Amino acid sequence: MENGLISTIREAGRIILSAHDAEKSVEVKPGEANFVTYYDKAVQEFLFERLGALYPDFAFVGEEEGADDIARLTGGKAFVIDPIDGTTNFMRGFRHSSVSVALCEDGEVRLGAVLNPYTDELFYAEKDKGAVLIGRDSTRALHVSPRPLENGLVLFGTTPYYAETYDETFRILRKLFEASLDVRRIGSAALDLCMIADGRGEAFFEVCLSPWDYAAGNLIVSEAGGIVTRIDGTPVRLNEKGSILAASPDVLRQLRYLLDFQK
Ligand code: IPD
Repeated sequence: MENGLISTIREAGRIILSAHDAEKSVEVKPGEANFVTYYDKAVQEFLFERLGALYPDFAFVGEEEGADDIARLTGGKAFVIDPIDGTTNFMRGFRHSSVSVALCEDGEVRLGAVLNPYTDELFYAEKDKGAVLIGRDSTRALHVSPRPLENGLVLFGTTPYYAETYDETFRILRKLFEASLDVRRIGSAALDLCMIADGRGEAFFEVCLSPWDYAAGNLIVSEAGGIVTRIDGTPVRLNEKGSILAASPDVLRQLRYLLDFQK
């Protein structure tokens, strides 16, 4: 395990926990309901600086800076970072947000780490080495749920920044709500993916996400035995925004049938 990276992410989480005036430091970004706080920027700067010292030959792509470099994520070494995934939750004191860090080489995620600072749960995976949950006092393996969709919880994101996607989101949601036990929208895509990796939910979808939302979480799901694709069944690439669908292999087959995917 990359212990320096793990302790750096935990320190970043402490910056989030130290915030008492998050709503006062909000700036509005382009798009619907798109916000950034002083803390998003502070956590990103902290991670760039500390990880830059630990991994000097890595570039940085982060939600609050360097976002225009997504297209270059097909080669070389880069960290893809969301300093606070779930900014709206953070601003509103909802206490469900995360720090998401992915270490990428040649267009592939080699290591993913997602921290929920409020529960002190660190979801962690290295390529081909499995996924684990590093808690306060112990570490255990992560595995996707064995439940079928009809007994499952479907987690989803609303893609709030792109109004043109709303109809598609709610069309899919209606279908999956009827086919499952129930649905949940909890506001951090990175943590949604970790919930699938830990079998707390059976499927996750969102119609458009950015690489910093899903890079780390996707590896954690795959290493926990799940599958992540675009909603049309095509592979997810790191260098472009797009939809995400994550589930166990069995549930993914059910989703393919329901959503009438191409193979
Ligand atoms: C957002 C969260 C949210 C999802 C949005 C993301 P941010 O990330 O992951 O759950 O629905 O599409 O952009 O903006 O809070 O880092």
